Amino acid sequence: AVTQDLAGRHVVVTAGGTREPLDPVRYLGNRSSGRQGYALARAAAARGARVTLVAGNTELPDPAGVDVLPVGTARQLREAVLKVAADADAVVMAAAVADFRPAVYTTGKIKKIDGVEPEPITLVRNPDILAELSADRLRPGQVVVGFAAETDDVLANGRAKLARKGCDLLVVNEVGEDKAFGSAENEAVVLAADGTETPVPYGPKEALAETVWDLVVPRLAGPRG
Ligand code: C5P
Repeated sequence: AVTQDLAGRHVVVTAGGTREPLDPVRYLGNRSSGRQGYALARAAAARGARVTLVAGNTELPDPAGVDVLPVGTARQLREAVLKVAADADAVVMAAAVADFRPAVYTTGKIKKIDGVEPEPITLVRNPDILAELSADRLRPGQVVVGFAAETDDVLANGRAKLARKGCDLLVVNEVGEDKAFGSAENEAVVLAADGTETPVPYGPKEALAETVWDLVVPRLAGPRG
């Protein structure tokens, strides 16, 4: 039997990638499969939590016993998280939220016109949801966890990002052509705001999910009631 160390807790997990529309038929997306976030949601449910999964683009089936809220853009993901995380004990931001979106949404399909070069796409920043949740905790003692996909100087960039975002835990993994995105396996280091660093060897995303909850549980505020 699985230890029910999340019994009585509400956790919010985000997963998948956001899609930032350019026009009614085109968007900027990313290669997130949603697998890590879904593994986190399933693991939390098995450990007794009430789980709300805010899901960007993914092809995965809804996990049993989990409330799934589908979203499209980063701004929709932010709205959904702010609503459902108000009473959450922990929020795990595993979604690949687009850092940027097209500055302009064109309401009609952008047309190809003979002899006319296309307009460049101008990007603007999306709100940083993880930084916002970390700076203005929705409830006292809420544990906030982020993910960071880095291609180089993985640990140094991860430590800097943990400090910049202000979250409690940051799961750092190296991404590359065949690493992390879309794969069933992951290798990571979990950095904590208290300075502890927990390496997680290459293995199934389910194993990394369990390690994340193992690190969240001792950081949760005392049980309510
Ligand atoms: O800044 P970067 O995109 O590398 O940070 C990744 C982490 O921040 C992930 O946990 C992701 O869910 C979160 N994020 C966010 N809002 C954004 C961009 C990323 O919450 N606009």
